[in-house]
This record gives sequence, structure tokens and C-alpha cells, in this order.
Amino acid sequence: MSQRILIGVAWPYANGSIHMGHIAGCYLSADIFARFHRMNGNQVLMVSGSDQHGTPITIRAEQENVSPEDVVSKYHKEFLSSWERMGISFDLFTTTGTENHRQTVHDIFTTLLDKNYIYPNTVPLPYCHTCKRSIPDRYLRGTCPNCGNLDARGDQCDNCGKPMNPEDLIDIKCRISGDKPEIRNSEHFFFKLSAFQKPLLEWVNKQKHWRPNVLNFTRRYIEDGLIDRAITRDLDWGIDVPVTGFENKKIYVWFEAVIGYLSASKEWASTTNDPEAWKDFWHKDAKVYNFLGKDNIPFHTIIWPAMLMGVGGLNLPYDVPANEFLNLEGYQLSTSRNWAVWIPEYLEKYDKEQLRYYLSANMPESGDSDFSWKDFVRRNNDELVATYGNLVHRVLTFTYRNFGQSIPQPLTLTTNDKQFLEKVHSLFSEVTQQLEECHFRNALVNAMAIAQEANRFLEASAPWKTIKTDRETAGTTMWVALSAINCLKMALYPFLPSTSQKLHEMLGFSDLIEKHTWAWHSSEINLPPGQRLNNPEALFVKFEDEMAEEESSKLGIEPQ
Ligand code: MF3
Ligand code: ZN
Repeated sequence: MSQRILIGVAWPYANGSIHMGHIAGCYLSADIFARFHRMNGNQVLMVSGSDQHGTPITIRAEQENVSPEDVVSKYHKEFLSSWERMGISFDLFTTTGTENHRQTVHDIFTTLLDKNYIYPNTVPLPYCHTCKRSIPDRYLRGTCPNCGNLDARGDQCDNCGKPMNPEDLIDIKCRISGDKPEIRNSEHFFFKLSAFQKPLLEWVNKQKHWRPNVLNFTRRYIEDGLIDRAITRDLDWGIDVPVTGFENKKIYVWFEAVIGYLSASKEWASTTNDPEAWKDFWHKDAKVYNFLGKDNIPFHTIIWPAMLMGVGGLNLPYDVPANEFLNLEGYQLSTSRNWAVWIPEYLEKYDKEQLRYYLSANMPESGDSDFSWKDFVRRNNDELVATYGNLVHRVLTFTYRNFGQSIPQPLTLTTNDKQFLEKVHSLFSEVTQQLEECHFRNALVNAMAIAQEANRFLEASAPWKTIKTDRETAGTTMWVALSAINCLKMALYPFLPSTSQKLHEMLGFSDLIEKHTWAWHSSEINLPPGQRLNNPEALFVKFEDEMAEEESSKLGIEPQ
């Protein structure tokens, strides 16, 4: 039965280019999942957008001496092109700067205010005399009361992942002037997170299918005790507060950004012929998945679910398959130190498919993982080129040359043929199940195992020998091998969409692979004998070893 699946992916701050860490963190996994489910006959809505507000944007604007609008419009455009070129298939990638988003945020804010889940309170706020303004959370530095990190920010400790209120920090300093701010009283709105302690814990305890790291982090966090959180700030850049007397304040960026999943669903519906269509994705029989990096976990497993519980009648996330971090050559990514591989730069020289492969095979699903150029070259050459590419090339060129450029007619299959096809079938089922459960690395391992099995099958059957004496048997072997390749095309489609399309065409199909359903049968209906093949071409380029040296030395290191 067809299911509705909403895939909400974390909204990147529009203050810098997309790098590999972003792709490995959530955009690739979300895309693999979306492509799989669309092909599997489900209705998928995959949304996200540029996070336009918050101090990450204003800091960048100040550094570059331009307006926040300039910063966000520049990067929003660049994001759209990065998704397109990486094959990240959003149904909608919008921004938090739309009127629709503002309206949706105001609706949620007012609903929660009416239900007393939002209330005003006087708070002591840090005011810096040197900078002559009250200091936003991220401009504050202090010691984390939880883990002792000396460089925690006022909104979050990057070391232990705990969200902070500025007053939680020990020995608080302004990051810009380095001075100790004066604490002044100001009126702000609070979200009554404490009211959701019990219902959240009950809900979380039921999520047995969550990844253990996500589940444990969330459970521990709730058990530590939830406290109410200020959701307005003394800022000029952001969404205004829909209450008189708060004209100089803005809604806290995190509080409004998560509402983006809802507002983007509405925006998407408004572009279809049914403006109410968004409701189908937010009601009971739909499933919501949120993809994000581990630093965003508490906002998606605690704060947003609490907001949704407060509003009522909307789906909570079904799963939050957060990834851990991707390091680069053994060191943590750092955009400020330019320790990253930027997507626009990568794509100037190399193909998206090979990066999609490497980042899927090396996805930081259950722990941090590492990108190294040397390993990238090795896995490309050993796995994509040698295992998959060569298999396809051997089978297609041999068939093309010896069987009139078309798919041969199989005779009765031998026990060997049948056993091999059964193996392919069970690997394909394994891929399906792993994808359903968001185990992308394992899904890829099983898909690649089909190629390994096929190489073994060919070696054992040796059609290049049999063809000399028994053309029919060789033709049967080739039909069986082509059928396995036809399966690989499907199993690898979520990971390598353009490669699969190319292979689909080489196998003689002329439509889009997306028009086919997620299934594989070793039957002649699915791979019709007599179908004309197209001229076989190499699927992947081999990388030279020098490439790793060149790229590593650009980073300023020796290849490992
Ligand atoms: N902009 C945030 C970041 O880059 C992520 C926001 S996710 C959202 O860390 F759901 F809140 F939008
Ligand atoms: Zn900490």
C-alpha cells in the first residue's frame, strides 16, 4: 500500500557554501531515502530551505560589510545549484524569509501563547558596554556547566552538545570585545518545555526503531530535566514577535526554523492544485522523517516535538536518523580554518556520482568517519571501477559483439544460473530492507555484493570459452549476467542515480529509470531477449594516484 512520507532535512544557515560534511551529514542520506521511496511507489515530499536568520547570518554580513539580505540571497542561490549538481532531489527547497513562513510561525506562536505554553518573563540579559548592545547568544563565551568546555557559546556547547541559556555559562564574556557584559533585565517570551517532560519521555521510550545514539542522547537529555527556554531575542534581524510591546525583538532562530518543515509543506501544497495537500503529510497515516547532523538532535527530538505536542493534531517525527560527523584527513572540519572540501569546488573538477558513492560507503551513520583523498581514490578505483564498472563493461561489450548488439535469448537455466539469480534476489531484498530502516551503508554493501557475485558467476561460467563450442549456453549465461546488471541498476539507483540512468539506456531502455518501480525479477518480461543494446561506454573514470597527492597538498598536508 502506498504510504505518504515527509522527509524534512535540516535547514542550512545561508552564510557559507555547502561542504562535504553537510552532504555526508544529512543531504545525501535524505536523498537516498527519498529516491528509494519514490521508486517504491510511495508519495514522498522532501523539503528544506535556507535558514536565513540568526547570528550566523549577521556575523557573516558584518564581516563582509554587506547586508544580511545580500548574504542570504547569495548563498541561497548557490545552495540551489549545489543540490541540483549533487543530485539532491528536493521537492521544495525554500527559505525562512518567505511571507508564508512568517505567517506559519506567527500561527504556531499565537496558538502556543493562547494555550499558555508560551509566557512572558523578565530575564537578566548580558549587555556589553564596549559594543553598546545586548549580546546575542552566539557572541557569548563561557565555561560549560555540564562538561567544563571553556569555549561554550550562549546557545549551545559544541563539546557536549547541550543547548545553553546565556545565564547558564560560567565566567561569561563578550566574544567581540572580550569584556565581561553587564546583566540587564529585559522582557522575553519563554516556551514551557518543562511541561512536556513526561509526555516526551513516554513518547521517546516508544521509539525502539531510532538509532541508538539518537535515542540514548535524547533520553539522557530529558532525564536530566527540561527547563523553559527563552524564544525571543533583542535583535533586528529575524521574524518579528506577534505581540505589541515587543517591536524591538525577534523570535529566536531555532524556534522558527524548525517550523519550516510545516511552512514548507504548506508552500509546496500551494504550488499544486490542492492547497490543502500538506495535511496528508501531517496526519496520522503519514510518516515524518527528519534528517540532520548530530549537533541538531535535541532540536528535532525534544524541542520541535514538544512544540508539536503543544499545538496538537500534527505528526511528530517518526524517525530522526541523525548522522555523526565526517572528518577530513583525520581532523574535524572547520569552516573558519577552511578545513573542508567545498561542493562547488569539488564539482568543478570531479563527478558527483563518485562522491555520492564514497560518502555513502563511508557515511558517519553510527560514529564519526573520515574523508581522505587517498581513500577516495582507492575506493573509486577498487570498488566503482574494478568491481562495478568492469563487470558492466565486460558483460555489455561481450554481448554487444557476440550477440548482434542485443539481449540474447536464454535457454533453460542451469542449476548454477538459478542459484546465482536466487542469491541476487536475496541481496536485493536485503538492500530493500536496509533502505527502509535507514541503514544506508549496509544497503550499499549488499548492493555491491551483487556485483561481486556477478563477477564470480562470470568467472565460473566462462562464456568466452563456451561460446566457441556452444553459443546457446553462452547466450544463456549472458542473459543471466545482464539480468543481474539490470538488478544492480535498480539497487544502486538511490546512491548513483545518473549512473543507473546511463546503464538503463545501455541496456536498451529509452525511458527514465524513475518511471520503473522498485522491484527486480529475473524474467524475460523485465529483460526482453532481442532488445537492442546501446553502445557500451565506461561508467566511471579511474583516478590517478597523483590526484590524491595533488588534492592533499592543496590542503597543506601529506597524503596518509
Ligand atoms: N541552521 C541550522 C544549522 O545549520 C539547522 C536548522 S535545522 C531546522 O545548524 F530544522 F531548525 F531548521
Ligand atoms: Zn559542554
